[in-house]
Amino acid sequence: MATHEHNSGNFHEKIETSPFLLIVLTFITISFGALVEIVPLFFQKSTTEPVRGLEPYTALQLAGRDIYQREGCYNCHSQMIRPFHAETLRYGHYSVAGEFVYDHPFQWGSKRTGPDLHRVGGKYSDDWHRVHLNNPRDVVPESIMPAYPWLNENLVDDATIGDHMTALRRVGVPYTDEQIKTAGADIKGKTEMDALVAYLQVLGIHVK
Ligand code: HEC
Repeated sequence: MATHEHNSGNFHEKIETSPFLLIVLTFITISFGALVEIVPLFFQKSTTEPVRGLEPYTALQLAGRDIYQREGCYNCHSQMIRPFHAETLRYGHYSVAGEFVYDHPFQWGSKRTGPDLHRVGGKYSDDWHRVHLNNPRDVVPESIMPAYPWLNENLVDDATIGDHMTALRRVGVPYTDEQIKTAGADIKGKTEMDALVAYLQVLGIHVK
């Protein structure tokens, strides 16, 4: 027994006094733990299959999503309702993985200067969003959200939307050839405001 304790103490001492060995072994241990946690998620139905009724974004919604990213809305808004009572009371059903399978990249965000937007779809009228985005203070006097008046003037980019959808199809979004072919024509002449509002109005509407 005494020899055994002596040996294992020696072994530990070796690891603890060798920074390099400690780093390598820590790395291996954490990597193994991470694999055990993460790998099954790639094969679980609840994380890989779309929730019932979820459709890939239309060309107009997708263009709106691009504007959401361009304008950095995610810097102030999350799209991830956590399963806590206070959150579900305020925002509705917590977010589930199957709602994000067509999101590349997802817009979960990590900062909430403004409210979470994951279930904002259908909460307000299109007109409310137009007024709000043009100048938030017109509908929410105390708002600190920036105004985005140029969205009314800029037209959406109809030249590249088809390529965008082709790229998304490569990572698994089931767009048809027909949808890709007509995408440019579908959004031609629409403003960035039309697109962004169309996007906001489908957020989170498939889980009640
Ligand atoms: C500087 C932070 C900030 C940025 C950037 C920002 N917002 Fe906001 N947003 C807020 C705040 C604060 C509120 C709450 C006050 C209000 O309703 O205006 C809000 C509210 C909202 C609401 C109403 C949510 C609800 O449930 O009442 C929507 C929709 C919204 N923002 C969309 C957007 C979009 C789209 C963009 C990008 C074009 C954007 N926001 C950029 C801060 C921000």
